[in-house]
Amino acid sequence: MKNLLIFGVFLLFLSSCTSDLNTSRKFNPTDFQYSVQIPQRDFALNIPDDNKMTVEGVELGKLLFSEKLLSSDKQLSCTSCHNPDKAFASNNRFDEGFKGIKMKSNTMSLENMVFSSHVGWKGKFSSLEEAIFNTIQDPNEFNEKWDNVIIKLKDAGYSNKFFDAFGTTDFTSEHVTKALAQYLRSNVSVNSKFDRAYYLNDAEARFTPLESQGFELFMSEVGDCFHCHRVGPFSDDRMHNNGLDSKPELGYAEVTKDENDKGKFKTVSLRNIALTAPYMHDGRFQTLEEVLNFYDGHVQFSPTLDPNMLHLGPIALTAQEKQALIAFLNTLTDEKYIKK
Ligand code: HEC
Ligand code: HEC
Repeated sequence: MKNLLIFGVFLLFLSSCTSDLNTSRKFNPTDFQYSVQIPQRDFALNIPDDNKMTVEGVELGKLLFSEKLLSSDKQLSCTSCHNPDKAFASNNRFDEGFKGIKMKSNTMSLENMVFSSHVGWKGKFSSLEEAIFNTIQDPNEFNEKWDNVIIKLKDAGYSNKFFDAFGTTDFTSEHVTKALAQYLRSNVSVNSKFDRAYYLNDAEARFTPLESQGFELFMSEVGDCFHCHRVGPFSDDRMHNNGLDSKPELGYAEVTKDENDKGKFKTVSLRNIALTAPYMHDGRFQTLEEVLNFYDGHVQFSPTLDPNMLHLGPIALTAQEKQALIAFLNTLTDEKYIKK
């Protein structure tokens, strides 16, 4: 009896503690700092003024990224398609969304979004926040109403976390999309063998002769890759027609309604490319060998073909040179980032 009484008092004490915590909770977010060095000369950060990153916002975004409550049948989270072990892409040609609906394009890798301004293969969205807002409502993806998302997250006890990140427990779709966008912007991969060799002169990361040869080809007018896959981000953050088809899909023209943009897609980064097969917006190539065989002699002419794709005939890479290019592309895998 006495024990029970003490236990009761203890419980009372505990509950008064937690309620005190709620009322005295202070909004004091900590500025987010990248834990890796980002070489200033080749990278520009694209962080909107109205969504500065904080430690609390990024942590909340990370939780939401694997939260199945965001989907209407609680079966999908962002990680269902954007697998952190696969550089936030997947190895399926087309992933499955709501009730197994096949996506119409290959899942994109979500690393280094902070260096990029076009969002989506066709550049459909002008910000990450906008893309995320739509993913939730998209009948093929999460197929959920925002009002329901907020109710479910409140019931699941997320209110304090939103308070810590944004200073309000009365959170809305705006806060959910902002937290997810902060997490994605925190997600940088700049610690591959390439980075250590090229930016940090790390002797242990020195290129093999084959990798060096591949890098030279990548940077030469022969390979011509660097024009669009610019060194550093390995993307120029633009839309191009790289000649996949002689009668190209609309691509970016679907967004701009301009014929001149037909067949243009986002130059995606080549970082961690070894992990994200299959390749291209429709996942048509299974391997990097197939990608190189395309660039080497199978580029298709159409009126919007990029001027940098001049080598309509074979760019005449020997089998050995293709192996060298692939060896170089493999140096863009960032082991530390993948294990995170
Ligand atoms: C059912 C699979 C699936 C799920 C679930 C999913 N995505 Fe995607 N995601 C895709 C596909 C497919 C694309 C490419 C769409 C396109 O542009 O054609 C994509 C593209 C993106 C892009 C654009 C990337 C770039 O480089 O431009 C962002 C950002 C993104 N997703 C974020 C998210 C977030 C955040 C979530 C969770 C709220 C999520 N996705 C859930 C399949 C998925
Ligand atoms: C004219 C600009 C341009 C040039 C030059 C170029 N690329 Fe690309 N690359 C792109 C675009 C745009 C895409 C996306 C196309 C799509 O999916 O429709 C792409 C996609 C890729 C992909 C697939 C990425 C993925 O995640 O699916 C690889 C790999 C690639 N390029 C490697 C190379 C290599 C290697 C070279 C040099 C031999 C090269 N590229 C030259 C613009 C270019």
